[in-house]
Amino acid sequence: MSAITFQKLKDRQEKISMVTCYDYSSAKIAVNSSVDALLVGDSLATLVYGYPTTIPATLEMMVLHTGAVVRGAPNKFVIADMPFLSYRKGLFHAMTCVEKLTQAGAQAIKLEGAEGNLELIQHIVESGIPVMGHLGMTPQSVNKFGGFCVQGKDEVLATKIIEQALSLERVGCFSLVLECIPAQLTQQITQKLSIPTIGIGAGLYADGQILVFHDLLGFDAKFNPKFLKKYLDAHSLILTALEQYHEAVKSGTFPSTAESY
Ligand code: KIV
Repeated sequence: MSAITFQKLKDRQEKISMVTCYDYSSAKIAVNSSVDALLVGDSLATLVYGYPTTIPATLEMMVLHTGAVVRGAPNKFVIADMPFLSYRKGLFHAMTCVEKLTQAGAQAIKLEGAEGNLELIQHIVESGIPVMGHLGMTPQSVNKFGGFCVQGKDEVLATKIIEQALSLERVGCFSLVLECIPAQLTQQITQKLSIPTIGIGAGLYADGQILVFHDLLGFDAKFNPKFLKKYLDAHSLILTALEQYHEAVKSGTFPSTAESY
């Protein structure tokens, strides 16, 4: 898989599957799956570090976790997120961040929003690094939006998102994440763009889908947004295993002679 293959899949009308991944052990499982590509998302700030938003994600975190994922999944196409403000402090700073993420093994980078980023995206693409765009409910702008809420419901905002999508394609993005926007808007954007759209909370008309690893595996029993489908109840399964282990230790049945040297 590569940025080129993304385009081929759209051209063949074959859907693209993506999942986030943050660590070596999860990557070692994901590498054996057929999932098309992995995103080291800045959502690791919430899932791995327990922050309420992605804003505290740092470049150091992104570089360390990208390296871990690439070591666990060497044959997967790995995209890394540019963290909050790392691409808003001038070209030199942004390119240093891109350099560190790609040297950690990312084959492409993702950044949020269009306005003020177009020249930079063009420069990154012209430097030989594929860029994935991200529009809609872009989590790094949560404070501007006043919370995690569906974007593009009214016509003015919807038109703005369409224009932004077209501008991202124009400057060379190989793909575009659309997060938490109405399905009809996703359909319009997907039809207007030649590059593939990847949806999360954006309905069925995107060219592909991405879900957060922990969400699709059901780590958090209390996190149940409308867009999420859980493919495992990891919370219950892990909890049951931990309880069984605890009971076995307390009752003296673990370790048995079989587990002893
Ligand atoms: O950081 C992330 O997990 C993301 C996906 C939700 C697209 O950007």
